[in-house]
Amino acid sequence: MKNSYSRRSFLKSAAMLTASMPAIIPASALGRTNTPPGDRIVLGHIGVGNRGSALLRSFLQVDDQQSVAVCDPYANKRKAQAAQVDKFYAEKLGRPDYKACAAYGDFRELLARDDIDAVVIATPDHWHVPIAIEAVKAGKDVYVEKPLGVSIRENQAMRRAVRQNGRIFQYGTQQRSWRQFRFAVELVRNGYIGTLHTIHAWCPDISSQEQAFNEPIVGSQQPIDIPAGFDYDLWLGPAPWSPYTADRCTSFGSYHHYDNSLGFIAGWGAHPLDIAQWGNNTDDTAPIFYEGKGEINKGLYESVRWWDFRCTYQNGVKMRLMSEAIGRQVFSELHPETHSHGTTFIGDEGWVSVNRASILAGPMSLLDVRLGPREEHLRERNNHYAHFVECVRTRLDSISPVNTAVQSDIISHLCDISIRVGRPIRWDPQQEEIIGDAEATRRMTRSLRSPWRLS
Ligand SMILES: NC(=O)c1ccc[n+]([C@@H]2O[C@H](COP(=O)([O-])OP(=O)(O)OC[C@H]3O[C@@H](n4cnc5c(N)ncnc54)[C@H](O)[C@@H]3O)[C@@H](O)[C@H]2O)c1
Repeated sequence: MKNSYSRRSFLKSAAMLTASMPAIIPASALGRTNTPPGDRIVLGHIGVGNRGSALLRSFLQVDDQQSVAVCDPYANKRKAQAAQVDKFYAEKLGRPDYKACAAYGDFRELLARDDIDAVVIATPDHWHVPIAIEAVKAGKDVYVEKPLGVSIRENQAMRRAVRQNGRIFQYGTQQRSWRQFRFAVELVRNGYIGTLHTIHAWCPDISSQEQAFNEPIVGSQQPIDIPAGFDYDLWLGPAPWSPYTADRCTSFGSYHHYDNSLGFIAGWGAHPLDIAQWGNNTDDTAPIFYEGKGEINKGLYESVRWWDFRCTYQNGVKMRLMSEAIGRQVFSELHPETHSHGTTFIGDEGWVSVNRASILAGPMSLLDVRLGPREEHLRERNNHYAHFVECVRTRLDSISPVNTAVQSDIISHLCDISIRVGRPIRWDPQQEEIIGDAEATRRMTRSLRSPWRLS
């Protein structure tokens, strides 16, 4: 049995945590089901590119947690982020000599540390599930960036692993912790728009980004030398091998290369879809029918470039999923404001539409509603990152638990599969299988490059 290690004692003894591995006792090692307030939650950060470094900054602001390790196959990124962490604690503690954040190239070394309670995973999409499964097997709780896996079978394996290992999972769908999204969903759930019958969800796509750059986005396929200090083989991991090119391992590249992701139909689509599922009260299921169209991009980025899908839920609600230009056009039929993304709920007595910039409604007076004590109030969480730390401590399910991730991501996968096989998809949400289409069913699985496998 290891001892508790309070925040106060951390602050007192942090000065002792110099270049050697920090002597930290994690909450999970205490053998208790939850961790008392004041005890620190110890975090490691896997993938510290654009998003991972932003998350790291957010987590550093959370009380009663300590970030002790970062990991990235780019030596320059991991060293820079470890230095940022040390600088943060040096200033916070008034100890200029503080130097305790370890920098790893290989996530397995970070996961082997038994002083780490939880990990924040912000790698490219193709690594989310393989790393998160290894993490929960190693007894870590996981904050996993959206989208979830690169196949439906990966998503299902992720859920099994979280449940079998009794770990906390939180999805990187931070809109759930924003007040306006919660309020929109509360209006829908409490019947303020009457009976919900239609949902519109839309987001940016490759073609909307092309308009910003004013040129086709295809990505270079010209092989070039791998930069020094970069472990390209580990970056690829379970993805098929292909030559390194200038555009391959950038943030944008991994968003749109099909080997690494599904493109924005899942990557950006995860956000409006997550809110759609929340408002429809269908977090534990997915629509049963998918019919629509879309186009696969050319060049390096051969993910879906635009899409327009109509899906039907078992509860009869219809959902239209769209890429940006179509979504903007459809929303203009309701309201003159235009937004690159959003989720609109339409009922037989009104509508409400929410995005990161605004919440709009018809009639607008709906926005003055104050819920009564007997109405459905959703859990109020205003900081997605503090909430994760709180869940690691209390062992209560997060506001974005694993099945929300699995189900909303399944919707993106089924639209993608429908485009690739060129016909509508019927889905059995109980068995979680595609109905009567062997070719589409094969696309629910992707093989992993050896020696990687989902264990
Ligand atoms: N929730 C949000 O709003 C939001 C916003 C942006 C990005 N994201 C998600 O965050 C993820 C990362 O996006 P990004 O823009 O930061 O990309 P990025 O390329 O800037 O960062 C990803 C980092 O992961 C590293 N990496 C690759 N393989 C790794 C491995 N095996 N172990 C450790 N690190 C590894 C890469 O080297 C890179 O530094 C994506 O899945 C993206 O969809 C979420």
